[in-house]
Amino acid sequence: MKHRPIGIFDSGLGGLTVVKAIQKELPRERLIYFGDTARIPYGNKSPDTIIRYSRQIIRFLISREKVKAVVVACNTSSAWALDEMRKEFKIPILGVIKPGAYAAIEVTRNRRIGVIGTEGTVFSGAYPREIHRLMPKAKVFSRPCPLFVPLVEEGKIAGPVAEAVVKEYLKPLLKEKVDTILLGCTHYPLLKKTIQKVAGKKVKIVDSADETARTLHRNLEIYGVELAGNGGGKYYVSDLSRKFKEHAQRFLGKSINRVEKIFIEKY
Ligand code: DGL
Repeated sequence: MKHRPIGIFDSGLGGLTVVKAIQKELPRERLIYFGDTARIPYGNKSPDTIIRYSRQIIRFLISREKVKAVVVACNTSSAWALDEMRKEFKIPILGVIKPGAYAAIEVTRNRRIGVIGTEGTVFSGAYPREIHRLMPKAKVFSRPCPLFVPLVEEGKIAGPVAEAVVKEYLKPLLKEKVDTILLGCTHYPLLKKTIQKVAGKKVKIVDSADETARTLHRNLEIYGVELAGNGGGKYYVSDLSRKFKEHAQRFLGKSINRVEKIFIEKY
């Protein structure tokens, strides 16, 4: 079992930020990534659709690559599909909500936490639920930021346009005197500098990538950590656009050469 790869998926390429963290934490593991680039965004879709998409992807990862565990790097799928997927599949399936919530309660001092994410993630209430479980007295202020994903996709992560949009969305959270902002979406870590600039130095900006990688490591202690492998892996997508390489580079910080397009609907 331990020599099998780990599957990681997201609605697109944003989940590569989680891959980066896992590569650092578990350098010997072989990682299989699936980015649902044909069906992104998930953030504005209904729970039924998110569950169906997640199921197809996990079926694909298991049947094609025999993965030993799956990391749902997408916040929207973690929010809506994780419980259902855990019931349906036998292998360990990890989401990003719990690790993200943990990262936030670790750094807050005044227990006032802002959570930003897609419409779907915010509407699900998954982050406040998890934060309250860990820190019952926390006050959580959530806000969907639907324009952040297209900004990041277009590479507009800094400058006047990005700053204006970030200001608009953060205004109500900053008014509530949050001392921590949790980036509850795979794309938002790329906007971190701009978010930090708008929020000011006193506000801590956290995301779930590093904590997810650590949680995965702890879970694999039970199921089998690869100790002899050389890392590496493979990337699958459901659509291979002209801009794929540029986007992948932006999220992963290095280029990707092995990539295969898959017709995911058949799984
Ligand atoms: N990957 C999604 C998430 O983390 C963001 C992009 C989308 O809307 O699909 O929620």
